[in-house]
Amino acid sequence: MECLRCFSRFVSMVLAVSVCALPVRVVAQNPTASADRVQLSDSVVLLRANRLLRQMTTDEKIGQMSQIFVFGSGQSVEERIRAGQLGSVLFMTDPAQINRLQHAAVDGSRLHIPLLFGLDVVHGFRTVFPVPIGMAASWDPSMVEKAQSVAAEEARAAGVHWTFGPMLDIARDPRWGRIIEGAGEDPYLGSAMAVAQVRGFQGAYLGAPNHILACAKHFAGYGAAEGGRDYEAVDISDDQLWNVYFPPFKSAVDAGVGTVMSAYMDLNGVPATGNRWLLRDVLRDQWHFRGFVVSDAVAVNNLTTHGFAKDSQDAALRAFSAGVNMEMGLGSTAYGTTLPASLKAGRITIKQLDDAVRPILETKIRLGLFEHPYVDEALAKNILNDPDHRSEARRSAERSAVLLRNDGGLLPLQASRYKSIAVLGPLADSINDTTGSWVFANDPGETVTVLQALQQHASSDTHIESAPGVQIARKFPSPFDGITKVKKQATWSESQAAEEFAKAVQIAQRSDLAIMILGESQNMSGESASRSSLDLPGKQEQLLEAVVATGKPVVLVLLNGRPLNISWAAEHVPAILEAWYPGTQGGSAIVNLLYGKAVPGGKLPFTWPRSVGQVPIFYAHNTTHAPRDQDKRYWNEESTPLYQFGFGLSYATFSFSNLQLSKSEIRAGESLDVSVDVENTSDVPGDQVVQLYLHQQFGTSSRPVRELKGFRRVPLSAHDKKTVQFSVGKADRAYWSSATKSWVDDASKFDVWVGGDSTATLHEAFSVVP
Ligand code: NOJ
Repeated sequence: MECLRCFSRFVSMVLAVSVCALPVRVVAQNPTASADRVQLSDSVVLLRANRLLRQMTTDEKIGQMSQIFVFGSGQSVEERIRAGQLGSVLFMTDPAQINRLQHAAVDGSRLHIPLLFGLDVVHGFRTVFPVPIGMAASWDPSMVEKAQSVAAEEARAAGVHWTFGPMLDIARDPRWGRIIEGAGEDPYLGSAMAVAQVRGFQGAYLGAPNHILACAKHFAGYGAAEGGRDYEAVDISDDQLWNVYFPPFKSAVDAGVGTVMSAYMDLNGVPATGNRWLLRDVLRDQWHFRGFVVSDAVAVNNLTTHGFAKDSQDAALRAFSAGVNMEMGLGSTAYGTTLPASLKAGRITIKQLDDAVRPILETKIRLGLFEHPYVDEALAKNILNDPDHRSEARRSAERSAVLLRNDGGLLPLQASRYKSIAVLGPLADSINDTTGSWVFANDPGETVTVLQALQQHASSDTHIESAPGVQIARKFPSPFDGITKVKKQATWSESQAAEEFAKAVQIAQRSDLAIMILGESQNMSGESASRSSLDLPGKQEQLLEAVVATGKPVVLVLLNGRPLNISWAAEHVPAILEAWYPGTQGGSAIVNLLYGKAVPGGKLPFTWPRSVGQVPIFYAHNTTHAPRDQDKRYWNEESTPLYQFGFGLSYATFSFSNLQLSKSEIRAGESLDVSVDVENTSDVPGDQVVQLYLHQQFGTSSRPVRELKGFRRVPLSAHDKKTVQFSVGKADRAYWSSATKSWVDDASKFDVWVGGDSTATLHEAFSVVP
């Protein structure tokens, strides 16, 4: 055994030495292929990075730490690339243009260091998957991993090496538009989705073929923006940071995420991008993160906007000292323009510079960019057209949808019953609003809207009529409107609007059924898309009420990225399906769900408020005085949510029984097993998400009323029964206590509930003794 170890050490040394003996330029015989890439050992990577560092001038080092946006052909930046002034560019999607710039770097720069191409591959590249909040609603990490691996394969084929995702910001205020990009309100679900996405993007190891580098963003606390207003400052207690906002990031780091993005805002008075405690003490020293930190776009220069840095030079210095390795700039970077002077003035040292650049070089080495800098443009076409990717996108959209109401079993629809169908609403035939925000490389022609899918699905004797009924628009435009591929139609005049409204209601009147596709247009959710109301925008609510008043059965399908005020619909519309922005195959998925070819099984990843006045509202709140009045905290309406966290219906029904704990008492540090039976009590198959919640009754600090600590999406055929096992260990009980300013695993009593949502009632208890 010892000999074996010696031998493997010897082999890795020989390998390291021989690789280091290679000339800097190590482009492989087939520089576009990547399938032969193997995982490099840390020592090989380090030796190669150090060898490069020794040859680099300080300007070249600073160049590697600079990243800028490049739109279109990128011709304007070629000179700078040849001069070694840029290490990375973002926003390019065309393989031919990417290859051209890469040639400028590899053939034209002194040390032939390839560029790292970055892009926000948030929920797909060419094939668009449901938006992240939708994918989280699947409660199916393996599906999410698969979806992001498809996105990675397509992106990599086109030459994109790096995605700015996953977004791991916990969001408990749906006024904040970026709730759509994350996994919602819960740190446990958020951590599971973080790990799934990191694995999906990066594969088994950093540099795995057909995968890309992931980026955990926005570190940290961005989701708690004051008033839900994007970019605003954040003030969160240590308790909330450690127990709620940090866990998904910690999980991503443990899963090997290669990069982390520093957030825009002030965190408790110190901007995240200049926050040494965050980026060094927590991320590197405590969590042992070994990749590199990139700033959010222009966040380094923003340190002056914050009233933190004196000027651009000070900003660069403070971000650099805090631990930002690469600056994301617009056309230039503060690093590029000011760090050389700071170095000359002795305000930073060469050693500090080397330490900051090294992880960037190591990442490029691990990704195999030196051997395979280019992409095969013909192969890229095939990969981007892979029909399996579209099937996967449809399956993901089906698994993400959440059935919120199904009164009288209106769904699944019986095709023979509804021979004339009104398909109404501004989003019914909107390509953009089927795919959602953060979509830059798709082919809009590939997107299937709900109207198109219904037309394809309908038999020849079914008559489909459609009308938007209303138009919806933001009061202030979105900064992303300019890059949206399908342009919006002209705004209706007042009389036209009245005619269109009336036309939609008339269609409903003469139809057997109305399917209404309402929600928010894609630019109403996402970055720079916060709002002070959760109402259905425009006159959608009026249209809904008018159509319901016709007396025809109505199915409401929501396309959106945040909970909306649908309190009226929750009482008056018999069937409500939350479909999010479901992606390229969204229409087909929705039609499959409506007609029962697929069964809804998703669950809400956030608490759905009754109105905006309840915000923030989340299930894992602490118990306080008069808990019996928890539902009457406001005198004007219930303080309970409209739909609880973890809620979602199915066409099947389920029951839970036989909750058992392996022990009733354990010692601190020990684990116990939990088992429960879940049964499909109906005649149709369906999935149930079995959820385990824990509550600590007393301890060093007070703890939330319950917290999710386990879940499993279980497929069950009609009348099938399965036993589901969980383990509850120290990691599930431990929390950061503001009383002791440390992690604790208290001796206490714990309640356990298991069920289909966060109001589960099946209960057991156990004790932890010292
Ligand atoms: C700003 C956003 O906050 C961030 O999430 C994104 O990755 C960058 N822009 C690049 O597009």
